[in-house]
Amino acid sequence: MEEREQKLKNFGENSDFIIIGSGLAGLYAALLLSRYGNVLVLSKKSVAESNTWYAQGGIAAALGDPDSPAQHFADTMTAGAGFNDPEALNILVEEGPRGIKDLQELGVVFDHQDEGLALGQEGAHSFRRVLRIGGDATGRHLVDSLYRLAQQKENIYFDENAFVVDLIVDKGECKGICWYHEGKVFYLYSKAVILATGGGGFLFSRTTNPETATADGVALAYHAGAAVANLEFVQFHPTVFFKESKAFLISEAVRGEGGYLVNEAGERFVFNYHKDGELGPRDIVARAIVWEMNNTGGKVYLDLRHLPAHFIKERFPTIYTKCLEWGVDITVELLPVCPASHYFIGGVKVDYDSKTTVKGLFAVGETASSGVHGANRLASNSLLEALVFSRRAAYYIGENLAYKDHPAPAKQETVTYNTKESEKALQIKTELRRLMWEKVGLFRQEDVLLEALQQIEEWMKIFDYKTKIPEIKELQNMLLVSRLIAEASLQRRESRGCHFRVDYPDTSPEAMYYLIFQKKDGFKGVQLHCSFLPG
Ligand code: FAD
Ligand code: SIN
Repeated sequence: MEEREQKLKNFGENSDFIIIGSGLAGLYAALLLSRYGNVLVLSKKSVAESNTWYAQGGIAAALGDPDSPAQHFADTMTAGAGFNDPEALNILVEEGPRGIKDLQELGVVFDHQDEGLALGQEGAHSFRRVLRIGGDATGRHLVDSLYRLAQQKENIYFDENAFVVDLIVDKGECKGICWYHEGKVFYLYSKAVILATGGGGFLFSRTTNPETATADGVALAYHAGAAVANLEFVQFHPTVFFKESKAFLISEAVRGEGGYLVNEAGERFVFNYHKDGELGPRDIVARAIVWEMNNTGGKVYLDLRHLPAHFIKERFPTIYTKCLEWGVDITVELLPVCPASHYFIGGVKVDYDSKTTVKGLFAVGETASSGVHGANRLASNSLLEALVFSRRAAYYIGENLAYKDHPAPAKQETVTYNTKESEKALQIKTELRRLMWEKVGLFRQEDVLLEALQQIEEWMKIFDYKTKIPEIKELQNMLLVSRLIAEASLQRRESRGCHFRVDYPDTSPEAMYYLIFQKKDGFKGVQLHCSFLPG
């Protein structure tokens, strides 16, 4: 028996906890849960391929004078258009600093400046409060450090290129998972399953996200009967550099350090749209860029030429090098930028311990809808959310579920591949991503959303949902979540935060509710209900 299968067999006989995903949320939860039992961490591709890996700006936390958790709370509420769950947000800002300390105790070294930690400025933050690593390579360093630590633990087992295709649900309780690896499907039972599967930015053809970000966690949870919420709130990052069809994020921290946005005539224009100009909330800056492009018929550029070249190279080494590689020397040239899908605010609905509405199933990080971000996420709050709420999940599970008996061992079966079907799935995937960008993107309106929904529903009829073939399963996940996003965007007849309706451009004071979808047995369509915000 090959080494991987032997390890898996041993693990299966003593399986305690399963974590789907190896970004910050998954890795951190794994480290904490390993104190209570054996942990299996699965990654769709390599451990490193995740949204976390690409994070640039850093991680926000109010670490003390003159900043405070109360100010961090207020800034997040303002950016979130008052749509945040106040209790969840309070947990985020109050427990954030402890999470940072915890990372430091685990050996994560944040960048320093003078006597203390280097703190960066980003849009809509009242203070410099964004911690970073390696200038603009925060995510890569976080993953490296936590993965290295996790590898040293004998009771954390990693499986890469392991595509989770289903959750095993019995009498309303999640009992385990089923995943695909090199032609075989494995079934494994456990005491708790954590979804740490990240977001779904890759549902859109223009995105900062890697191809693994296809909202699988939302689809898995939905099919397991869990409630999913707030899916209309997809955040578009304002400043992305495109080279042919490839995208590269230009961190908001670049504007935080004095980078301007200018139009074709070299004029700064964002102050026409928000009093804080380039450092206004992300949704407003993103729309301002598109409006400016439409109004002038030209491009929009980031201008850093007034900043010292040595500062740019030291502060943003990854960005400087990548832009140079793609033909632009940002120390002396203007950099063309435009928005792209970046972050899923909505996701699997969770409570303050990251429990979903299905027993035994938890969701943490970008795949969860914890309510902290409201209608528009404040920059660098995502890594913080992953940290704070995966810690809560791990302690809840450790204290409440670790005592359970070991579940049944693993089993496996072989899958037959159908190359033609997989090719068809890849072709529809490309078309779907273009459709989502064009019809369910930054600017939405009823007739166009209806067209999108009709097309998505046609595509949904093509494949059998019970398939275990990754390409097809992934497409089905993307179609389902696209369907839910389009439906939620249609139902929310107002504009709020990053959800902008051309036909309803104002915010409706009555619409202070979350749109929630939950699958009901025997019902093939999408069922929707509303839950009013607490407080
Ligand atoms: P991810 O890091 O995305 O990890 C998801 C994991 O789930 C991956 O390991 C993937 O393989 C696995 N997975 C998914 N589906 C399956 C499946 N079916 N089977 C098995 N495994 C699966 N936020 C900030 O706060 N600060 C920043 O500076 C910042 N910069 C960013 C820059 C970029 C370019 C991007 C794309 C995002 C950035 N964000 C930033 C957002 C932030 O990085 C993410 O929201 C956060 O890292 C999500 O972490 P996560 O652990 O929830 O998910
Ligand atoms: C960035 O560096 O601009 C991304 C930060 C974030 O998404 O929070």
